[in-house]
Amino acid sequence: MSHSLFVSRLTLTDFRNHAALDLQLDARPVCLFGPNGAGKTNILEALTMLAPGRGLRSASLTDVARAGDDEMRAQPWAVSARVMSDGVETVLGAGAERTPEGGVKRVTRRDGQPAAASDLAAAARMTWLTPAMDRLWSGPAGDRRRFFDRLTLARASEHGHAAAAYERAMRERQRLLSERVFDDAWLGGLEREMSAHGAAIAAARVETLGRLQEAIDARPDGAFPKAVLALEGLLEQRFELGAKSADVEEDFATLLHDVRGRDAGAGRALDGPHRSDLKARHAAKNMDADQCSTGEQKALLVGVTLAQARALANDPGAGASLILIDEAAAHLDSVRRAALFDELLANPGQAWLTGTDENLFEAFGARAQRFEVRDGQVRTA
Ligand SMILES: Nc1ncnc2c1ncn2[C@@H]1O[C@H](COP(=O)(O)OP(=O)(O)OP(=O)(O)O)[C@@H](O)[C@H]1O
Ligand SMILES: [Mg+2]
Repeated sequence: MSHSLFVSRLTLTDFRNHAALDLQLDARPVCLFGPNGAGKTNILEALTMLAPGRGLRSASLTDVARAGDDEMRAQPWAVSARVMSDGVETVLGAGAERTPEGGVKRVTRRDGQPAAASDLAAAARMTWLTPAMDRLWSGPAGDRRRFFDRLTLARASEHGHAAAAYERAMRERQRLLSERVFDDAWLGGLEREMSAHGAAIAAARVETLGRLQEAIDARPDGAFPKAVLALEGLLEQRFELGAKSADVEEDFATLLHDVRGRDAGAGRALDGPHRSDLKARHAAKNMDADQCSTGEQKALLVGVTLAQARALANDPGAGASLILIDEAAAHLDSVRRAALFDELLANPGQAWLTGTDENLFEAFGARAQRFEVRDGQVRTA
């Protein structure tokens, strides 16, 4: 479990509009400012390529490669971060490399050796907030589910394997159902896989929610309103009521067996953890998050993100985590912004922030490092 975490060097090679970026950093918050289109968000995105998944823009391997003058996209790119965790240095790398066939493939490295994505995730935990997430509480359930699964993944790396295995079994079952292959043994096997992985997914989510809510409740109401979180989902609800994993699994397998005809007709599985939703309520106002003002929704989300970092820091299985906030000032008044900075300074993981104007970061004083980004070039401010 790491008690402190920061990126001491970040290098980008042909990543979006950054041909060659080399940032030397200390542990203080990193503030990136500059005009629209300068490449600020691209830098945060590059960092998130070290986390499981496809980064903060859900981009493809080829989208992020720097668009060349003549060549089209199948180009290599690389992100490398030297991470200091409790004074111990680790170099994490992600990128795309050319294959002999002329395409590109994803590569992830730790200290120069090929490493699994979960290895990288454990070495550099991170959470991020982007303007696109301002509508999280009122947008589609899938976005909230993915958001919450990222939070879960930050403390339980096996969550990713369970989710992938569940999806695979679900797709295969749906294929059989749509082809009207009602082979009981085959379907039953896939349904048992779905129920085993599904129960693991739901159990990990419920555990994450418990830790997160605890971290939220441990603080008095401040600049960021407390959220009351709840998971809506068949299996999650069973776990919340104290059901045993074996029972949840068995009942889910039975249910899947019973609804084969319905799912065949619907063209997809209508029940399961792939349909779960995360609900939030503004505790003080006793109002559902999706009914709150834009600023209130943002403040709730910032509160959840900060609580997540505290929950990770207190979790013996996890540790300090980086917090990335794209357009830190959007929808936050100056009081909340100052409160956010104080919280970020108290977090044992480094903060990364962007904004168009250097003045936004004034409240940090000398407690942060600033860089001006212009046209894919970065200079110390
Ligand atoms: N694959 C790519 N190759 C080269 N340039 C790219 C690529 N993808 C995006 N860009 C360019 O990167 C530039 C900077 O994008 P970025 O989103 O980082 O800007 P920003 O500094 O965050 O701006 P804003 O203040 O508007 O959010 C854009 O002009 C975009 O066209
Ligand atoms: Mg941006």
